[in-house]
Amino acid sequence: MTTVSSAEHTRRDFLYIATGAVGAVGAAAALVPLIAQMNPDASTVAAGAPIEVDLAPIAEGQIVKVFWRSKPIFISHRSKKEIEEAQKVNVGTLPDPEPDSARVKQGHDPWLVVIGICTHLGCIPLAHQGEYNGFFCPCHGSAYDTSGRIRKGPAPKNLPLPPYQFVSDTKIRIG
Ligand code: FES
Repeated sequence: MTTVSSAEHTRRDFLYIATGAVGAVGAAAALVPLIAQMNPDASTVAAGAPIEVDLAPIAEGQIVKVFWRSKPIFISHRSKKEIEEAQKVNVGTLPDPEPDSARVKQGHDPWLVVIGICTHLGCIPLAHQGEYNGFFCPCHGSAYDTSGRIRKGPAPKNLPLPPYQFVSDTKIRIG
């Protein structure tokens, strides 16, 4: 890095390139960053111990993935638009009818916590993908909405909800 600071134009080029690189990495990381879990050791967690997740670092619009009982758990900090999209759906038209209010904890509408395993044949869906901008399973094309409900494709059920609770406004315990 120090070698490029000698020529201003080179420095500018470098900064431009560096910014682009950080942007790309940042976007990928923002999509599904893996949160390090500092509580119980790996074998205890694998055996099924509850885990606590600090929500404070998760920005609005971001989805992170953690593991609980070896299962991927998606934690989505939904934007106002994503919440509205989830709430305005006519529940009767859904393959697995569930109101958004049954998918989140009361008073915590921004937070969707789901088990990230497709209910068709068990692939791990991609976050912020697909026709409904929720989750998309590329294995056979199942599209879930911002509430994790199946909207299109062969999956028969909504993404399951893990047992969890808020232990504070910014922390949940899963399990
Ligand atoms: S496993 Fe997800 S669509 Fe088949």
